[in-house]
Amino acid sequence: MSTMPKDFLWGGALAAHQFEGGWDQSGKGPSVVDVMTAGAHGVAREITETVEKDKFYPNHEAIDFYSNYKEDIALFGEMGLKCLRTSIGWSRIFPNGDEAEPNEEGLQFYDNVLDELIKHGIEPVITLSHFEMPLHLAREYGGFRSRKVVDFFVRFAEVCFNRYKDKVTYWMTFNEINNKMDVENPLFLWTNSGVIVKEGENAKEIMYQAGHHELIASALAVTKGKEINPAFEIGAMVSHVPIYPYSSNPEDVMLAEESMRQRYFFPDVHIRGAYPRYALKEFEREGYNIPFEDGDEEILKNGTVDYLGFSYYMSTTVRSGAANNTTGNIVNGGLANGVENPYIQSSDWGWAIDPTGLRYTLNRLYDRYQIPLFIVENGFGAVDTMEEDGAIHDTQRIEYLKSHIEALEKAVEYDGVELLGYTPWGIIDIVSFTTGEMKKRYGMIHVDRDNEGNGSMKRSKKESFDWYKKVIETNGKQL
Ligand code: BG6
Repeated sequence: MSTMPKDFLWGGALAAHQFEGGWDQSGKGPSVVDVMTAGAHGVAREITETVEKDKFYPNHEAIDFYSNYKEDIALFGEMGLKCLRTSIGWSRIFPNGDEAEPNEEGLQFYDNVLDELIKHGIEPVITLSHFEMPLHLAREYGGFRSRKVVDFFVRFAEVCFNRYKDKVTYWMTFNEINNKMDVENPLFLWTNSGVIVKEGENAKEIMYQAGHHELIASALAVTKGKEINPAFEIGAMVSHVPIYPYSSNPEDVMLAEESMRQRYFFPDVHIRGAYPRYALKEFEREGYNIPFEDGDEEILKNGTVDYLGFSYYMSTTVRSGAANNTTGNIVNGGLANGVENPYIQSSDWGWAIDPTGLRYTLNRLYDRYQIPLFIVENGFGAVDTMEEDGAIHDTQRIEYLKSHIEALEKAVEYDGVELLGYTPWGIIDIVSFTTGEMKKRYGMIHVDRDNEGNGSMKRSKKESFDWYKKVIETNGKQL
């Protein structure tokens, strides 16, 4: 019998660029995602120099929440969501990123959205940067290679904190700040940091340099936010894919342990306010130059986060001595020595389905940091079939979510983990981040739109809609 906390935040998660559309409306400037074409499983999305007329950019229209926000939020309200995690499109507020003054029309759009959420009793949970850096900052400044971009981000954060201080309590600075540890796939450094690695450069070093600037930007934003409203809860957000040892061979165990530093590096700094010694050793060993300025240690120490938000979709496994054939493979996080786990099935996109890995993750993260955790993404990307009568029986999705909710409830009720909430990813069908497809659907609300951008955009409820509504109503008792 479930005894989840009474105020547990059952919700849903989205990101502005994946569902808003209206990419050139209300004075919005192009963002780094607006120059990304559609790809597919195993086919990378192209990053074009600028927006090219004859190319298809799926995020431009996305699912047009921009025009439908009232209807969509009404559906979220009907589902009973207690919170909605979304982001504020940075380039809607600062179209180029380096302006002195924000774009009032963009600010007004988010006032409208937040008011509508509040009207339906839905608590907004806001990510400041979810792959939406203004393109101009990436092209002209090299994104977070440049320290100047730290100031632009902090200005953006400050504007949002001031404007929405009475409407938003839960914030996160950077979405999945750590996914760029996989430097083999250019998608991550581009979307996270606005960075393209040039020929002859050491990608890992560039990644740490941009990462340092982001960590400084995050810490400064946290400090500013707390001045503006001490009641703010400001978190970090990381992608967490636990890495298992393939066997009890101590070499496999140690390899997994060491590989996990790829997952821990960013949250270690965000939460402990200082660089971990294993990272300093790595910088020394590799001769990496990290652009530390006077005062940076103080900034990091003062700007630690209140909670850790994370995404959990899958686990991965490493075996010592395994061939390095997975580099650049999103599913294995580009890990050398990544191998398949014989105990785990995968989705059609190769993502391992491992609910126990969620309980394992909650325990490991809580033991390590002892601050509240928030599962701000989890879900099952799959092709859905619509029956002749229009029904969508997404039983596999329900199974996936059910097993993960069981795992999180065990972590809370049995293990005693402090967990603020659970926001399944893509509560309504949206454009996939890694592939740009529409057919990789996560939603409990179907949107009539295909990979090529055809469709009426009509919304309809899937079987999971009523199922999740019941989960929320019973505070997780009826799964
Ligand atoms: C996370 C991102 O990496 O995973 C989301 O924060 C993304 O933006 C989600 O959509 C799922 O990935 P995908 O590629 O299946 O959309």
